[in-house]
Amino acid sequence: MGQTRSGMQGTRRLLKHQLMLAYEVPTAEPEEWDYATANTKTHTHGYHTYPAMMIPQVARRLIRLYGEPGQTLLDPFCGSGTSLVEARLAGLHAYGVDINPFAIFLARTKTTLYNPERIRLCMRQLEAGLNSTLVAKQSEGAQPHQKTNLEVPQFFNIDYWFLPQVQIQLAVLRKAIHTTVPPELRDFFWVAFAHTVRECSNVRKGEYKLFRMLQESLESYQPDVVGTFWTKVVSNLQGLVEFYEQADPTTRVEVLHADMRQRLPLEDACIDLVVTSPPYGDSQTTVAYGQFSRLALQWMGFSDDDAKRIDREALGGRPRPSHTSYRSATLSATLKMIAEHDVRRARQVQQFYDDFTDCFGEIARVCRPGAYGCFVVGNRTVKQVRIPTDQILREIAECFGWHHQVTYHRRIPNKRMPLRNSPSNIPGVVGDTMTEEHIVVLRKSGGRSRSFRSASNGDSRLRHIFCEELP
Ligand SMILES: C[S@@+](CC[C@H](N)C(=O)[O-])C[C@H]1O[C@@H](n2cnc3c(N)ncnc32)[C@H](O)[C@@H]1O
Repeated sequence: MGQTRSGMQGTRRLLKHQLMLAYEVPTAEPEEWDYATANTKTHTHGYHTYPAMMIPQVARRLIRLYGEPGQTLLDPFCGSGTSLVEARLAGLHAYGVDINPFAIFLARTKTTLYNPERIRLCMRQLEAGLNSTLVAKQSEGAQPHQKTNLEVPQFFNIDYWFLPQVQIQLAVLRKAIHTTVPPELRDFFWVAFAHTVRECSNVRKGEYKLFRMLQESLESYQPDVVGTFWTKVVSNLQGLVEFYEQADPTTRVEVLHADMRQRLPLEDACIDLVVTSPPYGDSQTTVAYGQFSRLALQWMGFSDDDAKRIDREALGGRPRPSHTSYRSATLSATLKMIAEHDVRRARQVQQFYDDFTDCFGEIARVCRPGAYGCFVVGNRTVKQVRIPTDQILREIAECFGWHHQVTYHRRIPNKRMPLRNSPSNIPGVVGDTMTEEHIVVLRKSGGRSRSFRSASNGDSRLRHIFCEELP
């Protein structure tokens, strides 16, 4: 029997509620936010590693505390999409934004509800396709190191990062994915391919930056390309099944390849909740997202330039005019202390926070009055000066009409980011130690915040921000 519209909405709400209940952890939340022993690779979270990933348990808890099913979440620095996956699991719609095309690719794939049965079918076709390509190659009489007519990409330094036989096997794999998997399902397999590229490259394992293995280690190095790929496909399929069964199919996720300093293609006041972990600082001296992503992007057809541009384009990557009318008092004091040691470094740090202020302006525009914003930030050290980003963020937010609610603290228990970073790009030379992060919860008030003189037709980089007394 047909249902009325309100009847259908009621059924949908009930379904969402049931999904939430099924998904809810039966035990009470722990006091602290460390989740030191929690499994962070459930659902699609284990598809592919990414630097400074958010812990799913943190995103889940924040969504449960500050969001409701049916609302819309934004992650303005979504990276591999942890909070977007959690949004779908909790029945929220979501937008993700990132400047890194590799992050966009991961976030889209991790939030897509591929039908596991179709994936299983593709696995069989791919296996057959792979075998026939290998047989064809052998019948050409090609030696393992000969590239023959396989399309090995010709990017800069490919021979430095990949052994000849690895290049051949990756090319075989790439061709088989292209020829046997329907386009709408390919990304599921490209994720496992990207993992294989990294695992089987000459990059030292356990690093996010690109450092090559020592020559003596390379002499006996024989990575199993096809085996690595299948192991990853099988484990990702397990994660997909879990996600497919538990995610709310009525939710929508949109992942935008965009720069948060610019205006997003989103309406004013369309967002109810922000859950995000912004970069800790500029990519050159903190977490090199671009370097991490480069080899996989090059194998997936992006140009050398596209891949290299990411770190320059991320927050704090370029010199820029500073916000003259607006200054966080804490930031000013911190910059002064850094400048006593090194004026150039102080300018770079300022660049980063100026960029971040532009991003916050855009976040503030798209959030509705009363929206919550949850920001996971770290207080890094530059020139022995600790930068209290949690406090700086509060002060920036207050200028946009947001109010601080609470800050939770968590120890960083695992290796999801380089605790000691390598600002110099020299292997083994490390910078500061960061063992704690802060979850700053803010709320947008009903008061107004205004931005004046949006210079050069909305180029938010030159915007001057004025604080207003809130009612
Ligand atoms: C800490 S990571 C986010 C990790 C994410 N929470 C996850 O779980 O994978 C910060 C992200 O900010 C992105 N980013 C840096 N500058 C940006 C900008 N101007 N606009 C949008 N995203 C940017 C980086 O590419 C990176 O993916």
